[in-house]
Amino acid sequence: LPAGAADVFPGARECLGRAGRGEVAGPEAGNLFSGLARRFGTPLYIYDEETIRGQIRRFRQAFESLFPRVRVLYALKANASLAVVRILKSGGARAEVVSGGELYLARQAEFSGDQIMFTSSSKSPWEIDAAIRAGAVLNLDSFDDLEAASEAAGRLGARATISFRINPGVDPTTLHQINTGITESKFGLHIASGIAFSAFERARRLPNLEIAGAQCHIGSQIASTAGYEETARRMLALLLDLRDKLDLTLRFLDLGGGIAIPYRPGERIMTPEDLARALLPVWGSGVAALGYEPELWLEPGRFLVGPAGFLLMRVNSVKVTPVKTIVNVDAGFNDLIRPVLYGAYYRVFAPGKSGPTSSVDVAGVICETGDILASDRMLPRLCRGDLLLIPDAGAYGFSMASEYNLQPLPAEVLVRSDDRAAVIREREPLEEFLRRQRVPEDLL
Ligand code: LLP
Repeated sequence: LPAGAADVFPGARECLGRAGRGEVAGPEAGNLFSGLARRFGTPLYIYDEETIRGQIRRFRQAFESLFPRVRVLYALKANASLAVVRILKSGGARAEVVSGGELYLARQAEFSGDQIMFTSSSKSPWEIDAAIRAGAVLNLDSFDDLEAASEAAGRLGARATISFRINPGVDPTTLHQINTGITESKFGLHIASGIAFSAFERARRLPNLEIAGAQCHIGSQIASTAGYEETARRMLALLLDLRDKLDLTLRFLDLGGGIAIPYRPGERIMTPEDLARALLPVWGSGVAALGYEPELWLEPGRFLVGPAGFLLMRVNSVKVTPVKTIVNVDAGFNDLIRPVLYGAYYRVFAPGKSGPTSSVDVAGVICETGDILASDRMLPRLCRGDLLLIPDAGAYGFSMASEYNLQPLPAEVLVRSDDRAAVIREREPLEEFLRRQRVPEDLL
């Protein structure tokens, strides 16, 4: 696993910082990105370590300065590359995982079991066993989950630490596909109709379980505080009910992730500081009523890694059609699916280029009409071989990449604070496409 010797790209760190702000027209940016492309190939994911460290520091500071006991769990699904996860771990994050695979990765990153929360709305028996064996907090999403956890713990001779994923029935207003807290969503045990309450009640009567907390996650890319405030209010009211009627106190209340990042130029949205300030009075009155103070847990993914990542790609051809100019690049929705899956917006730049601009569509490499990474963008004149750069690509970029059309998974490079660039994932070699395939003898 250790990365090989890293190359030094003088000024790289500072240049990436500027590129994140959209300042890429100068010759330094042109030199850096063409250097990286020459050395590591394209399409290429590039991460800026210092930005990741800055994001976790800022997020923790925002909450730790206002709340006495805070735990920040990094949602690995945003970017599960081991080097990235280890940076966040060293920045004080714990881990939120949603599969046996992510649990495995978190253990490889040397999180101890009690630093890991396992959340999934559909857990397979082997995943429940693995989470209990690891000593992770098992976040349950149904009565069936609850029965399965109690049985598995009994079978393993262990005690499972559990919490429940709660559906608070709150609409935080975000993209429909990533809105998870509404009543119609598949996630969580609903506060409405007393379902969530009954789950805790039932859990108390089952063996081998230790009830530790309540969790919710109302969606992703949430840009305002209102939904969180209402959610916190409802969750704290549930905790009060549990204390009053069951004499049950919880170690933690987890309000999930979902903190948005700005993707559009000049977009002004909720910051972690805004969120912490908005939650404080709700928390204060809720805790006063409760008579005890649970730990506040949060599960950011996108905020911690999104702004730190770039997707660098090369122009394969430029084509003028009767209606528009199409710039064909060597990346596509196999590398970055969010534009196609959610209609998500990304900025696109031509590093090192300036001059008059005109409108183009940036088209991906995949053989599907829909593979457009950005449409109607004003970009300087582009030619075959030029580079394009998409910032804010550190979250749900590589982690949602696929091998569709047998496009190899791209390489990932980490730029360190001393301007060294280290490969943290090799580009997938073509042989990988066959490595686990088997062909019946008569077909060989
Ligand atoms: N906790 C739970 C239980 C989650 O399901 C998620 C994200 C997070 C935390 C982290 O959310 P974040 O802070 O990153 O918004 N693929 C979509 C996002 C789906 C997120 C799913 N769950 C996208 O590319 O926008």
